[in-house]
This record gives sequence, C-alpha cells and structure tokens, in this order.
Amino acid sequence: ESAASSRKASRAPSPTRSVYGIGGKVAKPDYSESKIVLAMVGLPARGKSYLSNKLMIYLNWLEYNVKVFNVGQLRRTRAKQKALQSGVREDHTASYFSHNNEEATKLRDRLAEDSLEMLIQWLKDGGNVGIHDATNSTMSRRAKIEARVKKEKGLSVIFIESLCDDPAVIAANVALKVSSGDPDYKDMSPDKAKNDFLRRIQEYEKVYETITEPDISYLRIMNVGKQVTVNRINGYLQSRIAFYLMNLHLKPRNIFFSRHGESQYNVEGKIGGDASLSERGKEYAKALPELILKNIGDSPLTVWTSTLKRTIQTAQALPYPKLTWKSLDELDAGVCDGMTYEQAYPDDFANRDEDKFNYRYRGGESYRDVVVRLEPVIMELERQENVLVIGHQAILRCLYAYFHHLPQEDLPYIKIPLHTVIKLTPKAYGCDEERYPLPIAAVDTHRPKPKAAQQPTVKVSTAREYYTPS
Ligand code: F6P
Repeated sequence: ESAASSRKASRAPSPTRSVYGIGGKVAKPDYSESKIVLAMVGLPARGKSYLSNKLMIYLNWLEYNVKVFNVGQLRRTRAKQKALQSGVREDHTASYFSHNNEEATKLRDRLAEDSLEMLIQWLKDGGNVGIHDATNSTMSRRAKIEARVKKEKGLSVIFIESLCDDPAVIAANVALKVSSGDPDYKDMSPDKAKNDFLRRIQEYEKVYETITEPDISYLRIMNVGKQVTVNRINGYLQSRIAFYLMNLHLKPRNIFFSRHGESQYNVEGKIGGDASLSERGKEYAKALPELILKNIGDSPLTVWTSTLKRTIQTAQALPYPKLTWKSLDELDAGVCDGMTYEQAYPDDFANRDEDKFNYRYRGGESYRDVVVRLEPVIMELERQENVLVIGHQAILRCLYAYFHHLPQEDLPYIKIPLHTVIKLTPKAYGCDEERYPLPIAAVDTHRPKPKAAQQPTVKVSTAREYYTPS
C-alpha cells in the first residue's frame, strides 16, 4: 500500500467524500441565492477602492460573481458624454464636491443612485456581490441606500467604512491618485492635482458622518488591519467577508513560493505519492537557506510545508519556525496516484486537459476542490507577514492565481518549475514578482495545454489509435 493511499484511509469521512468517487467533470457551485450589496463608506484616499478590489479578487477566487460599481467612473463617463453632446465640459475640481454647490450635490446624489440601480439590476440578472464604490459619507445617503435595497426581496446590504488616521497611508493614497494617470487629473501638473485632491478631501470632511446608525449592518475598518468593528453580520457569505477584511493588512512583506526539491516520483514521471527527494532535490534543500537569507536578511519569516515528506525534507535546513498544513498537500490524484501520466490516461490523454480545472480524478480531487480547501490558507496568508510556502505544483498554481488574479482556465497550466523560488511583493493593486531559479538541474513536470484541448475536435487519443508499435 502506498503512503498516499494510507494517507487517504486516515482521512475523516466528510459529507462531500461520497461524490469523490464519481470523477470526471464536476458542476460549478450554485451561488444563485447569495446576493449582497457592499456599500463602501469613507473619505477619498482612505483605501476604499483597495478594499473593493481585494474583496472582488477573494470572492471571485471562491467563484462568486462580483462586480465593482465605481461612482467616480460613472461621473467621468457621463461628463464625457455631456461634453460630446453640448460641447460644455463640467468642472470636476474641488468645488464640484462642496456641499455648498447645490447643483453639483444633486448631480452627485443622482450618480450614486443610478449606480446603485445598475448594481441592483446586475444582482437580479445573476450577480452575487455588487460593490458600490463611493464615499456614501452621510447618514442620509446611507439611509437611502438601505431603504432602496430593502425593497428588493433576497438582497441585503453591508456598509464597509474605511477609516484611516495614518498620515503616511493617506499621503501614499493621495500620491497614487495623482500619479496613476487618474482621468480627473490627467491635464493638471502633479502639484496642482495634489492640491486640488486635498481640497476635495476637505470638502468631504465638512459633511462626513462616521457610521453610528445602530440598526444597519456594517464593518468599520481602522487603518486596514488595526481594528475592525462588526455590527449585525449574519450568514455564511457575510461572515466570510467580515473575516477576510479582519485579516487584511498593509504592512510591507514578501510571500515566497517554492516547490519541494525534485522527488523520486518526479524523476520517474509519476504523479502524487509521498516519495522522498532525489539526490538533486536534496541539493536544492541544502542550497535554499542561503537564497532565502539573501532575500529576507534578519526579518522574521515563517515556513509552511504540506504534510508530505518531500516538502518537509526541503524545509529541513531552513532556520525559521515551521508549520505543517494538511491543506497544502498536493492535489489528490485518486486512483491514478502513483501512475505516470501515460498510465493515468491510457485512452485519452487529452481528456483531463479539455477542462483541467473541473476535472476530478476518480477517488481524488479537481483543481476546483483544491481551491476550496485552500481558502483557510489564503486567509492566513493575508494575515501573516513574511511567509515561505514550500508546496506542490497544483497547490502553488492555485495560490499564485489568487495573488495575480488569474482566470480559472489558465490556472492549471501556470508554470511553477522545480528548484525555483518565486517572490511576491503585494502592492496596492496586485503583486510584484521576482523568480530565482537555482542552478540545480531538475525534471520539467509542466505539461502544456495540448492542441486537442484548444481544438476539441482533434484528440491526441485519435493519433494513438492509429499507432502500431513495431
Ligand atoms: O508531477 C508532479 C505533481 O505534483 C503531481 O504529484 C501532481 O499530480 C501534478 O504535479 C499536478 O500537476 P498537473 O495538474 O499539471 O497534473
């Protein structure tokens, strides 16, 4: 009996276990009953768009249909249309955002309402989570949103207030706004743009009301990660959202990914199992500490491994605290565990590749199953600072796809070579990446998407049928 199958036997039965026997293509989860409006609240430059974007990526990764409705964008689009029709360009400098400017205030209220209407319609048409990315900074605006959403059966609203009193974070957000080619400021000098944006913030400050309404559902986030207040949050999806936001932080840090060193199974071209490292794999494990030290200096680091020998052996020489995660174990190849790819797909090599993300090994898992079981890992990765994950090909593809927001269909083909450290540095939007291949040879376990998978009419198996070994 292989170590992998004894591993399976020790698993507690779970309600989903029985369907694992089926194998093949598996249906998408049905989230049609989940419908939430997330209404952002906060002054400009308080990270509302950052939070909206993070939430969208996280919920997308869990396969919820999420869309951000940015009221600023709608304002600009409408102004452009007006300018084209009438030749008059609306002035959107700071005075447009003053509460004394009655006409503009009406226009801005209208924009927020229209954007909410579009969001509600989108939810009715099948969306799950619509994010209203606006300042929603007064009680009366929030009361209107609450009343409007309540009219719709099955919809609920959570307000997410982002407060920030850290001058460095505010300054960075202001700098990002004026330097990122923001359409509001594209025709202004950087200094003028910065002054105007600071004046705009002051206009909002004059009327800003932090959330004190006791009866609404809200999450108040102080300095992303410092403190979160939770009020009237119910149900699974709402709790996931709250939990996720509680774990976010903005501290600079690095996330390192490395596959285990080359294993005996890798050399033999076999999948799954619980093999030890090959001689070259052991060399990689020996060389790894120096590379990590060069990158991390004396900053603290935690090393995570799976429960499988090859990752634990790879981490052995690393002088950092270590944590073993069952959730980081390689995708379970079920009845194919211990086989080569050719043995695993004798009739139709392209079968799995037709929809690799959804393909579930008989008695094992699909990439989709792996994404679901990695959710606690993602949550913890968000909470932690410097982490090195020593994982497996399929596992690291899933984690990598989350941090780079890559689509499901590309996920199972991401290149995560052996003997290479991938360093991610989270930034306001997305991650910077560097790759460090160590000069220790290893087999290449990446199989590109076969042509057959791109053109379903041509199957690799067809060629095999006409092949007669001599
Ligand atoms: O080949 C190494 C390996 O980690 C196997 O154990 C695993 O089944 C496979 O990679 C996952 O990659 P793919 O989904 O491309 O088969």
